[in-house]
Amino acid sequence: MADWPEPVVRVQVLAESGLAAIPHCYVKPPCDRPAAHELGNRAGGGDADAAHDPSSTSIPVVDLGGDDENIAEAVASACREWGFFQVVNHGVRPELMRAARDAWRGFFRLPLPAKQQYANSPRTYEGYGSRVGVEKGAILDWGDYYFLNLSPEAVKSPAKYWPANPSNCKEVSEEYGGEMVRLCERLMSVLSVSLGLDETRFRAAFGGGGYGACLRASYYPRCPQPDLTLGLSAHSDNGALTVLLDDDRVRGLQVRRRDGHWVTVHALPNAFIVNVGDQIQILSNAMYKSVEHRVIVNAENERISLAFFYNPRGDVPISPAPELVTPERPSLYPPMTFDEYRVYVRKNGPKGKAQLEALKGQGGAITENN
Ligand code: OGA
Ligand code: NI
Repeated sequence: MADWPEPVVRVQVLAESGLAAIPHCYVKPPCDRPAAHELGNRAGGGDADAAHDPSSTSIPVVDLGGDDENIAEAVASACREWGFFQVVNHGVRPELMRAARDAWRGFFRLPLPAKQQYANSPRTYEGYGSRVGVEKGAILDWGDYYFLNLSPEAVKSPAKYWPANPSNCKEVSEEYGGEMVRLCERLMSVLSVSLGLDETRFRAAFGGGGYGACLRASYYPRCPQPDLTLGLSAHSDNGALTVLLDDDRVRGLQVRRRDGHWVTVHALPNAFIVNVGDQIQILSNAMYKSVEHRVIVNAENERISLAFFYNPRGDVPISPAPELVTPERPSLYPPMTFDEYRVYVRKNGPKGKAQLEALKGQGGAITENN
């Protein structure tokens, strides 16, 4: 996996070339395309027929300024129903949120050569990228991204892999990352408590303080045929928790609701969108599921988002917490370290939830060892 199987094309370059039809390699099979009613996705737009639109109900809001019991209840219900929620009163300064988004918007607006010097490879994914997965001839997504490691220190290389331009990008990303870690640690305690466990339980299972943290800034250019493609294919996040800072004007994230419908997320101003990843599904023995989500694009506006991934330590085997394993609810997953899991999922690119499902059924033999 030293390099990509085909020459890398920046979606931004394609979009800016003014083509009227997208190349074939971005055209999704009909079953994966967004429905026509889902494409009116600008903030303030597309709500006229909300009453008839199955995608108009939004994900629950959790007020982190409330009392602990209410927070745990709200989180438990959101995780059971949706696997997604938005948090408000989270304590992160709106100026920092804006600065982080602006810095990354500034990066994507640089001329191509300034970005190409950070071109990534499938070996680490760190840097400027335009695809996930190394399958030759794969159908690609309509988006570019920048991926960087924030923690642990050993894998962090700001001098080499983080953009030197805009000049505040490194500093802002560092501060933003620190705030995200603080928020995720709080959310990890809330998740533990919401399942009736001690507040430190989840954190301990993921390796104590030795978490991993990464940032993915995504840039979804305007697309002349948004009805044929996706900005990011359906997937679940492979880590523990994801905290997404959405674009302040343009919507695009969709969550698969339990009835199978895709629901477009309408983020409140200054809220973060939180979802549980595959590792929490494994640790909670599927009490909480990592839910599929995807990104739709549109013809009028580019969109930018910042996804922060909070991951377990790479080398601790993760399996269902014994407290959540009972004879009626046997262990569903075999132990696997996050490092092993990540190699396993990255080889294939986004595949909905098929990869986690494939691990199931290998869990039975493990229960005795727990
Ligand atoms: C992701 C993701 C959503 C978005 O990066 O895993 O789901 O809106 N991003 O960019
Ligand atoms: Ni995701």
